[in-house]
Amino acid sequence: MIGATGVAGQQFIAALNAHPWFEITALAASSRSAGQSYGEALRDRASGAVRWYCDDAPSPAVLALPVQDASQIDPECVDIFFAAIESDAAREIEPRLAAHRPVFSTASAFRRDADVPIAVPGVNLDQLALIDVQRRRRGWKGFVIPLPNCTTMGLVVTLRPLLDAFGLKRVIMTSMQGLSGAGRSPGVAALDVLDNIIPFISGEEEKVAWETGKVLGRLVGETIEPHPVVVSATCTRANVREGHTETVTVELERATDLAAVRDALTSFGRELCARGLPSAPERLIALHDDPFRPQPRLDREAGGGMTTSVGRLRLDEVGLRYVLVSHNTKMGAAKGAVLVAESMAADGRL
Ligand SMILES: NC(=O)c1ccc[n+]([C@@H]2O[C@H](COP(=O)([O-])OP(=O)(O)OC[C@H]3O[C@@H](n4cnc5c(N)ncnc54)[C@H](OP(=O)(O)O)[C@@H]3O)[C@@H](O)[C@H]2O)c1
Repeated sequence: MIGATGVAGQQFIAALNAHPWFEITALAASSRSAGQSYGEALRDRASGAVRWYCDDAPSPAVLALPVQDASQIDPECVDIFFAAIESDAAREIEPRLAAHRPVFSTASAFRRDADVPIAVPGVNLDQLALIDVQRRRRGWKGFVIPLPNCTTMGLVVTLRPLLDAFGLKRVIMTSMQGLSGAGRSPGVAALDVLDNIIPFISGEEEKVAWETGKVLGRLVGETIEPHPVVVSATCTRANVREGHTETVTVELERATDLAAVRDALTSFGRELCARGLPSAPERLIALHDDPFRPQPRLDREAGGGMTTSVGRLRLDEVGLRYVLVSHNTKMGAAKGAVLVAESMAADGRL
Protein backbone atom coordinates (compact mmCIF):
# COMPACT_ATOMS: atom_id res chain seq x y z
CA MET A 1 0.00 0.00 0.00
CA ILE A 2 1.58 3.25 -1.25
CA GLY A 3 0.44 6.47 0.44
CA ALA A 4 -0.68 4.50 3.48
CA THR A 5 -0.66 7.48 5.86
CA GLY A 6 -3.09 9.67 3.84
CA VAL A 7 -6.87 9.86 3.97
CA ALA A 8 -7.43 7.54 1.00
CA GLY A 9 -4.49 5.34 2.06
CA GLN A 10 -6.05 4.81 5.49
CA GLN A 11 -9.24 3.69 3.79
CA PHE A 12 -7.19 1.10 1.90
CA ILE A 13 -5.89 -0.18 5.24
CA ALA A 14 -9.51 -0.42 6.44
CA ALA A 15 -10.72 -2.05 3.20
CA LEU A 16 -7.96 -4.66 3.33
CA ASN A 17 -8.34 -5.43 7.04
CA ALA A 18 -9.01 -9.20 7.37
CA HIS A 19 -9.58 -9.34 3.62
CA PRO A 20 -10.13 -12.97 2.53
CA TRP A 21 -7.95 -12.69 -0.62
CA PHE A 22 -5.43 -9.87 -0.07
CA GLU A 23 -3.02 -9.33 2.82
CA ILE A 24 -1.11 -6.13 3.61
CA THR A 25 2.57 -6.98 3.81
CA ALA A 26 4.29 -3.67 2.96
CA LEU A 27 3.49 0.02 3.47
CA ALA A 28 5.03 3.10 1.92
CA ALA A 29 4.59 6.87 1.97
CA SER A 30 6.88 9.88 1.51
CA SER A 31 10.41 10.11 2.87
CA ARG A 32 8.89 12.09 5.80
CA SER A 33 7.21 8.93 7.09
CA ALA A 34 9.82 6.39 5.99
CA GLY A 35 11.77 4.56 8.66
CA GLN A 36 8.98 4.70 11.24
CA SER A 37 6.42 2.06 12.12
CA TYR A 38 2.97 2.75 10.67
CA GLY A 39 1.70 3.61 14.17
CA GLU A 40 4.50 6.17 14.61
CA ALA A 41 4.03 7.61 11.13
CA LEU A 42 0.35 8.30 11.83
CA ARG A 43 1.31 10.44 14.82
CA ASP A 44 1.74 14.16 14.26
CA ARG A 45 5.28 14.98 15.38
CA ALA A 46 4.48 18.39 16.83
CA SER A 47 1.27 17.64 18.75
CA GLY A 48 1.54 13.87 19.25
CA ALA A 49 -2.01 13.44 17.91
CA VAL A 50 -2.74 10.24 16.00
CA ARG A 51 -4.06 11.30 12.61
CA TRP A 52 -6.31 8.35 11.86
CA TYR A 53 -9.54 9.20 10.03
CA CYS A 54 -11.37 5.87 9.59
CA ASP A 55 -13.94 4.46 11.98
CA ASP A 56 -12.18 1.15 12.68
CA ALA A 57 -8.64 1.15 14.05
CA PRO A 58 -5.86 -0.63 12.11
CA SER A 59 -4.79 -4.04 13.39
CA PRO A 60 -1.75 -4.23 15.73
CA ALA A 61 0.12 -6.13 13.00
CA VAL A 62 -0.41 -3.29 10.50
CA LEU A 63 0.47 -0.62 13.09
CA ALA A 64 3.80 -2.39 13.62
CA LEU A 65 4.72 -2.60 9.91
CA PRO A 66 7.60 -0.36 8.87
CA VAL A 67 6.76 2.47 6.47
CA GLN A 68 9.08 2.52 3.48
CA ASP A 69 9.99 5.37 1.17
CA ALA A 70 7.72 4.89 -1.86
CA SER A 71 10.43 6.08 -4.22
CA GLN A 72 12.78 3.35 -2.95
CA ILE A 73 10.43 0.39 -2.41
CA ASP A 74 11.36 -2.87 -4.14
CA PRO A 75 8.81 -3.17 -7.00
CA GLU A 76 8.78 -6.95 -6.60
CA CYS A 77 8.23 -7.07 -2.83
CA VAL A 78 4.47 -7.66 -3.18
CA ASP A 79 2.08 -9.21 -5.73
CA ILE A 80 -0.01 -6.07 -6.32
CA PHE A 81 0.19 -2.42 -5.29
CA PHE A 82 -2.63 -0.15 -4.17
CA ALA A 83 -1.55 3.48 -4.46
CA ALA A 84 -3.10 6.66 -3.02
CA ILE A 85 -0.64 9.50 -3.58
CA GLU A 86 -0.85 12.91 -5.21
CA SER A 87 -0.60 13.00 -8.97
CA ASP A 88 2.91 14.51 -9.22
CA ALA A 89 4.36 11.78 -7.01
CA ALA A 90 2.28 9.13 -8.82
CA ARG A 91 3.74 10.16 -12.17
CA GLU A 92 7.19 9.21 -10.87
CA ILE A 93 6.42 6.28 -8.60
CA GLU A 94 3.62 4.33 -10.29
CA PRO A 95 5.46 3.51 -13.58
CA ARG A 96 8.44 2.13 -11.65
CA LEU A 97 6.09 -0.26 -9.83
CA ALA A 98 3.90 -1.00 -12.86
CA ALA A 99 6.94 -2.18 -14.81
CA HIS A 100 6.82 -5.21 -12.48
CA ARG A 101 3.41 -5.46 -10.81
CA PRO A 102 -0.24 -4.40 -11.17
CA VAL A 103 -0.90 -0.95 -9.65
CA PHE A 104 -4.42 0.12 -8.68
CA SER A 105 -4.32 3.87 -8.22
CA THR A 106 -6.53 6.69 -6.95
CA ALA A 107 -4.36 9.39 -8.57
CA SER A 108 -5.19 11.26 -11.76
CA ALA A 109 -1.65 11.01 -13.20
CA PHE A 110 -2.39 8.48 -15.99
CA ARG A 111 -6.16 8.80 -16.41
CA ARG A 112 -5.87 10.72 -19.69
CA ASP A 113 -3.45 8.29 -21.35
CA ALA A 114 -4.95 6.48 -24.34
CA ASP A 115 -3.82 3.02 -23.14
CA VAL A 116 -5.08 3.53 -19.56
CA PRO A 117 -8.66 2.59 -18.65
CA ILE A 118 -10.37 4.44 -15.78
CA ALA A 119 -12.04 1.63 -13.87
CA VAL A 120 -15.48 1.85 -12.30
CA PRO A 121 -16.95 -1.38 -10.89
CA GLY A 122 -20.11 -2.40 -12.72
CA VAL A 123 -19.80 0.44 -15.22
CA ASN A 124 -16.91 -0.19 -17.62
CA LEU A 125 -14.74 -3.11 -16.54
CA ASP A 126 -14.79 -4.32 -20.16
CA GLN A 127 -12.34 -1.44 -20.79
CA LEU A 128 -9.75 -3.26 -18.65
CA ALA A 129 -8.89 -5.22 -21.81
CA LEU A 130 -6.73 -2.16 -22.58
CA ILE A 131 -4.11 -3.30 -20.09
CA ASP A 132 -2.78 -5.75 -22.67
CA VAL A 133 -2.12 -2.79 -24.97
CA GLN A 134 -0.59 -0.86 -22.07
CA ARG A 135 1.78 -3.70 -21.24
CA ARG A 136 2.84 -4.20 -24.84
CA ARG A 137 3.39 -0.52 -25.58
CA ARG A 138 5.24 0.25 -22.35
CA GLY A 139 7.08 -3.06 -22.00
CA TRP A 140 5.59 -3.51 -18.50
CA LYS A 141 4.95 -6.80 -16.72
CA GLY A 142 2.32 -5.04 -14.60
CA PHE A 143 -0.05 -2.15 -15.38
CA VAL A 144 -1.63 0.99 -13.94
CA ILE A 145 -5.39 1.09 -13.47
CA PRO A 146 -6.66 4.35 -11.95
CA LEU A 147 -10.12 4.99 -10.54
CA PRO A 148 -11.86 8.21 -11.55
CA ASN A 149 -12.03 11.30 -9.41
CA CYS A 150 -14.29 10.64 -6.40
CA THR A 151 -16.85 13.16 -7.72
CA THR A 152 -17.04 11.42 -11.10
CA MET A 153 -17.67 8.09 -9.35
CA GLY A 154 -21.26 8.58 -8.09
CA LEU A 155 -22.18 10.38 -11.29
CA VAL A 156 -21.07 7.63 -13.68
CA VAL A 157 -22.60 4.87 -11.54
CA THR A 158 -25.99 6.55 -12.00
CA LEU A 159 -25.45 7.62 -15.63
CA ARG A 160 -24.49 4.16 -16.92
CA PRO A 161 -27.97 2.60 -16.56
CA LEU A 162 -29.57 5.78 -17.94
CA LEU A 163 -27.25 5.70 -20.94
CA ASP A 164 -27.96 2.03 -21.60
CA ALA A 165 -31.74 2.43 -21.35
CA PHE A 166 -32.46 5.91 -22.72
CA GLY A 167 -29.28 7.47 -24.16
CA LEU A 168 -27.62 10.63 -22.80
CA LYS A 169 -27.36 14.10 -24.32
CA ARG A 170 -26.42 16.54 -21.59
CA VAL A 171 -25.74 16.46 -17.86
CA ILE A 172 -25.68 19.37 -15.43
CA MET A 173 -24.29 18.51 -12.00
CA THR A 174 -23.62 20.50 -8.83
CA SER A 175 -21.62 18.79 -6.09
CA MET A 176 -21.41 19.43 -2.35
CA GLN A 177 -18.29 17.48 -1.53
CA GLY A 178 -17.13 16.09 1.80
CA LEU A 179 -13.98 17.46 3.45
CA SER A 180 -12.10 14.16 3.37
CA GLY A 181 -12.05 14.50 -0.41
CA ALA A 182 -9.46 17.26 -0.03
CA GLY A 183 -7.06 14.86 1.68
CA ARG A 184 -5.10 15.30 4.86
CA SER A 185 -2.45 17.59 3.54
CA PRO A 186 -2.94 20.40 2.67
CA GLY A 187 -6.66 19.58 3.07
CA VAL A 188 -9.19 22.29 3.88
CA ALA A 189 -8.59 24.73 6.73
CA ALA A 190 -11.23 24.29 9.45
CA LEU A 191 -11.82 28.03 9.78
CA ASP A 192 -12.45 28.35 6.05
CA VAL A 193 -15.13 25.69 5.91
CA LEU A 194 -16.86 26.00 9.30
CA ASP A 195 -20.31 27.54 8.82
CA ASN A 196 -19.53 27.77 5.14
CA ILE A 197 -19.60 26.37 1.60
CA ILE A 198 -16.56 26.85 -0.62
CA PRO A 199 -17.82 27.42 -4.18
CA PHE A 200 -14.74 26.27 -6.10
CA ILE A 201 -12.47 23.21 -6.21
CA SER A 202 -9.55 23.75 -8.53
CA GLY A 203 -9.50 21.44 -11.56
CA GLU A 204 -12.44 19.33 -10.35
CA GLU A 205 -15.11 20.44 -12.82
CA GLU A 206 -12.96 19.76 -15.88
CA LYS A 207 -12.00 16.33 -14.50
CA VAL A 208 -15.64 15.36 -13.93
CA ALA A 209 -16.53 16.43 -17.48
CA TRP A 210 -13.90 14.58 -19.48
CA GLU A 211 -13.61 11.55 -17.16
CA THR A 212 -17.36 10.94 -17.51
CA GLY A 213 -16.99 10.80 -21.30
CA LYS A 214 -14.07 8.37 -21.09
CA VAL A 215 -15.64 6.08 -18.48
CA LEU A 216 -18.88 5.87 -20.47
CA GLY A 217 -16.99 5.52 -23.76
CA ARG A 218 -16.51 2.49 -26.02
CA LEU A 219 -13.45 0.36 -26.43
CA VAL A 220 -12.56 0.68 -30.12
CA GLY A 221 -9.44 -1.16 -31.24
CA GLU A 222 -6.61 -0.07 -28.96
CA THR A 223 -8.25 2.99 -27.43
CA ILE A 224 -11.42 4.30 -25.81
CA GLU A 225 -13.75 6.46 -27.85
CA PRO A 226 -15.29 8.84 -25.30
CA HIS A 227 -19.07 9.15 -25.11
CA PRO A 228 -20.04 12.57 -26.51
CA VAL A 229 -22.32 13.46 -23.56
CA VAL A 230 -21.89 17.12 -22.57
CA VAL A 231 -21.20 17.45 -18.83
CA SER A 232 -21.38 20.80 -17.09
CA ALA A 233 -20.29 20.58 -13.45
CA THR A 234 -20.14 23.02 -10.54
CA CYS A 235 -18.09 21.56 -7.70
CA THR A 236 -18.29 22.93 -4.16
CA ARG A 237 -16.89 21.88 -0.78
CA ALA A 238 -19.43 21.48 2.03
CA ASN A 239 -19.02 21.20 5.77
CA VAL A 240 -19.48 17.42 5.70
CA ARG A 241 -16.81 15.00 6.89
CA GLU A 242 -17.32 12.27 4.34
CA GLY A 243 -19.57 11.66 1.31
CA HIS A 244 -20.17 13.63 -1.85
CA THR A 245 -23.71 14.86 -2.54
CA GLU A 246 -24.53 15.74 -6.14
CA THR A 247 -27.64 17.26 -7.71
CA VAL A 248 -27.97 15.99 -11.26
CA THR A 249 -30.09 17.01 -14.25
CA VAL A 250 -29.93 14.73 -17.28
CA GLU A 251 -31.26 15.39 -20.74
CA LEU A 252 -32.01 11.94 -22.12
CA GLU A 253 -31.99 10.99 -25.79
CA ARG A 254 -35.28 9.10 -25.64
CA ALA A 255 -38.44 10.12 -23.80
CA THR A 256 -39.37 7.92 -20.85
CA ASP A 257 -41.33 7.86 -17.61
CA LEU A 258 -40.31 7.60 -13.98
CA ALA A 259 -41.29 3.94 -13.67
CA ALA A 260 -38.85 2.99 -16.44
CA VAL A 261 -36.12 5.13 -14.87
CA ARG A 262 -36.67 3.50 -11.50
CA ASP A 263 -36.41 0.05 -13.11
CA ALA A 264 -33.18 0.97 -14.89
CA LEU A 265 -31.56 2.34 -11.73
CA THR A 266 -32.64 -0.39 -9.32
CA SER A 267 -31.72 -3.29 -11.59
CA PHE A 268 -28.30 -1.86 -12.38
CA GLY A 269 -25.18 -3.82 -11.38
CA ARG A 270 -26.89 -7.09 -10.44
CA GLU A 271 -24.33 -9.14 -12.32
CA LEU A 272 -21.36 -7.61 -10.48
CA CYS A 273 -23.10 -7.81 -7.11
CA ALA A 274 -23.94 -11.49 -7.61
CA ARG A 275 -20.32 -12.54 -8.16
CA GLY A 276 -19.49 -13.00 -4.48
CA LEU A 277 -16.66 -10.46 -4.52
CA PRO A 278 -15.72 -9.54 -0.92
CA SER A 279 -16.08 -5.75 -1.29
CA ALA A 280 -19.16 -5.72 -3.52
CA PRO A 281 -22.37 -4.35 -2.00
CA GLU A 282 -25.75 -6.02 -2.38
CA ARG A 283 -26.71 -3.36 -4.92
CA LEU A 284 -24.83 -0.57 -6.67
CA ILE A 285 -27.72 1.91 -6.47
CA ALA A 286 -30.28 2.35 -3.68
CA LEU A 287 -33.35 4.40 -4.55
CA HIS A 288 -35.12 6.50 -1.90
CA ASP A 289 -38.76 7.64 -1.97
CA ASP A 290 -38.41 9.82 1.15
CA PRO A 291 -37.93 13.35 -0.27
CA PHE A 292 -35.45 14.13 2.52
CA ARG A 293 -33.02 11.44 1.32
CA PRO A 294 -30.29 10.87 0.39
CA GLN A 295 -28.22 12.69 3.00
CA PRO A 296 -24.47 12.16 3.47
CA ARG A 297 -24.76 11.48 7.19
CA LEU A 298 -27.50 8.88 6.76
CA ASP A 299 -26.55 7.30 3.45
CA ARG A 300 -22.80 7.39 2.83
CA GLU A 301 -22.30 4.01 4.53
CA ALA A 302 -24.96 2.27 2.41
CA GLY A 303 -23.61 -1.09 1.23
CA GLY A 304 -20.45 -0.61 3.28
CA GLY A 305 -19.81 2.70 1.50
CA MET A 306 -20.13 1.05 -1.93
CA THR A 307 -23.76 1.79 -2.80
CA THR A 308 -24.71 5.08 -4.47
CA SER A 309 -27.90 6.44 -2.88
CA VAL A 310 -30.32 8.24 -5.18
CA GLY A 311 -33.44 10.25 -4.31
CA ARG A 312 -35.57 13.24 -5.35
CA LEU A 313 -36.14 11.48 -8.67
CA ARG A 314 -38.37 13.59 -10.93
CA LEU A 315 -38.93 14.52 -14.55
CA ASP A 316 -39.55 18.12 -15.59
CA GLU A 317 -39.29 20.29 -18.73
CA VAL A 318 -35.49 20.30 -18.46
CA GLY A 319 -34.96 16.58 -17.98
CA LEU A 320 -34.55 13.85 -15.41
CA ARG A 321 -33.47 15.22 -12.03
CA TYR A 322 -32.12 13.55 -8.92
CA VAL A 323 -29.80 13.87 -5.93
CA LEU A 324 -27.12 11.29 -5.19
CA VAL A 325 -24.75 10.52 -2.32
CA SER A 326 -21.56 8.54 -2.90
CA HIS A 327 -18.84 7.68 -0.38
CA ASN A 328 -15.74 9.46 -1.70
CA THR A 329 -13.04 7.54 0.15
CA LYS A 330 -14.71 4.09 -0.02
CA MET A 331 -16.43 3.55 -3.42
CA GLY A 332 -14.73 6.72 -4.73
CA ALA A 333 -11.23 5.61 -3.79
CA ALA A 334 -9.92 2.71 -1.70
CA LYS A 335 -12.67 0.12 -1.50
CA GLY A 336 -13.63 0.83 -5.11
CA ALA A 337 -10.05 0.05 -6.18
CA VAL A 338 -10.04 -3.10 -4.05
CA LEU A 339 -13.28 -4.20 -5.75
CA VAL A 340 -11.71 -3.69 -9.19
CA ALA A 341 -8.76 -5.84 -8.09
CA GLU A 342 -11.13 -8.48 -6.73
CA SER A 343 -13.02 -8.67 -10.00
CA MET A 344 -9.74 -9.11 -11.90
CA ALA A 345 -8.59 -11.76 -9.42
CA ALA A 346 -11.89 -13.62 -9.83
CA ASP A 347 -11.40 -13.50 -13.62
CA GLY A 348 -7.89 -14.95 -13.20
CA ARG A 349 -6.34 -11.73 -14.53
CA LEU A 350 -4.02 -10.90 -11.61
N1 LIG B 1 -9.44 11.78 -0.34
C1 LIG B 1 -10.29 11.33 -1.24
O1 LIG B 1 -11.54 11.29 -1.03
C2 LIG B 1 -9.81 10.81 -2.56
C3 LIG B 1 -10.73 10.17 -3.40
C4 LIG B 1 -10.30 9.74 -4.66
C5 LIG B 1 -9.00 9.93 -5.06
N2 LIG B 1 -8.12 10.56 -4.22
C6 LIG B 1 -6.73 10.71 -4.69
O2 LIG B 1 -5.91 9.89 -3.85
C7 LIG B 1 -4.61 10.47 -3.73
C8 LIG B 1 -4.29 10.67 -2.25
O3 LIG B 1 -5.26 11.55 -1.70
P1 LIG B 1 -5.46 11.73 -0.15
O4 LIG B 1 -6.72 12.49 -0.01
O5 LIG B 1 -5.30 10.43 0.56
O6 LIG B 1 -4.20 12.68 0.19
P2 LIG B 1 -3.44 12.88 1.58
O7 LIG B 1 -4.35 12.63 2.71
O8 LIG B 1 -2.78 14.21 1.49
O9 LIG B 1 -2.31 11.73 1.58
C9 LIG B 1 -1.24 11.77 0.69
C10 LIG B 1 -0.40 10.52 0.85
O10 LIG B 1 0.65 10.56 -0.13
C11 LIG B 1 1.93 10.45 0.53
N3 LIG B 1 2.91 11.24 -0.21
C12 LIG B 1 2.99 12.59 -0.34
N4 LIG B 1 4.04 12.92 -1.11
C13 LIG B 1 4.64 11.76 -1.47
C14 LIG B 1 5.78 11.45 -2.24
N5 LIG B 1 6.52 12.40 -2.84
N6 LIG B 1 6.11 10.15 -2.38
C15 LIG B 1 5.36 9.18 -1.81
N7 LIG B 1 4.27 9.41 -1.07
C16 LIG B 1 3.92 10.69 -0.90
C17 LIG B 1 1.69 10.99 1.93
O11 LIG B 1 2.71 10.46 2.78
P3 LIG B 1 3.29 11.26 4.07
O12 LIG B 1 2.31 11.02 5.17
O13 LIG B 1 4.61 10.63 4.30
O14 LIG B 1 3.36 12.71 3.69
C18 LIG B 1 0.30 10.39 2.20
O15 LIG B 1 0.43 9.03 2.53
C19 LIG B 1 -4.67 11.79 -4.53
O16 LIG B 1 -4.18 11.57 -5.82
C20 LIG B 1 -6.16 12.11 -4.57
O17 LIG B 1 -6.51 12.91 -5.66
C21 LIG B 1 -8.49 10.98 -2.98
